[in-house]
Amino acid sequence: MRLDKYISNATDLSRTEAKRLIKAGDVSIDAKMATSGSQKVSSDHSVTIDGSPITLLVDRYFMMNKPAGVVSATKDHSNPTAIDLIYEHRNQQLQIAGRLDIDTTGLLLITDDGQWNHIVTSPRTDCKKIYLVELENPVGDDYQKKLEEGIALEGEKRRCLPATMEVIDDHHIRLCISEGKYHQVKRMITSLGNEVLSLHRMQIGGIELDPELEPGDYRPLTADEIASIQ
Ligand code: URA
Repeated sequence: MRLDKYISNATDLSRTEAKRLIKAGDVSIDAKMATSGSQKVSSDHSVTIDGSPITLLVDRYFMMNKPAGVVSATKDHSNPTAIDLIYEHRNQQLQIAGRLDIDTTGLLLITDDGQWNHIVTSPRTDCKKIYLVELENPVGDDYQKKLEEGIALEGEKRRCLPATMEVIDDHHIRLCISEGKYHQVKRMITSLGNEVLSLHRMQIGGIELDPELEPGDYRPLTADEIASIQ
């Protein structure tokens, strides 16, 4: 990696600022003064700024218990975002892996690993998402069959991938889908002739929402949780 890129990855500095420091002689590679931003460095090198070592950031992975009223985005003009609730260095580099509507609560995965994010969100990878759905009207007898056949959503050419459900009681189901179309669960339930009163995501792939997390809280994923997404 270029030295200027390495510095901007490892610190809050922009590449222009990094170049300025290199030019000023403030940066060293393996105790030798660096001369140019284009010099190549890797994690095997010891890079220092003003004598203080810097290290490349590794990808970060978090789960959040998203509260209602929070937008699944990096920036929003009128509402707090999930990223605003992440008190980490360089949080604007984090991305949400599978958005939730503003009124949906529950499991949100947040990472700066683009490839991992893709595995979570792509319909091709069959990464299951489980939602607790509160229904306005009682569960219909035909829901299971229609979900298994694939619901045809208004305005979509292709049917949804087959979904499964578990009835909890008359007005609550656990719904398992493997895609993330816009307002997918709400639109599926509407097309079954019912309405969603509340929606809560409980699980993504093998990762379950940690019951210890209060709404708005987050924690790093464990190595096993990260590896469970493949
Ligand atoms: N489906 C929805 O309709 N909303 C969500 O937030 C997530 C899935």
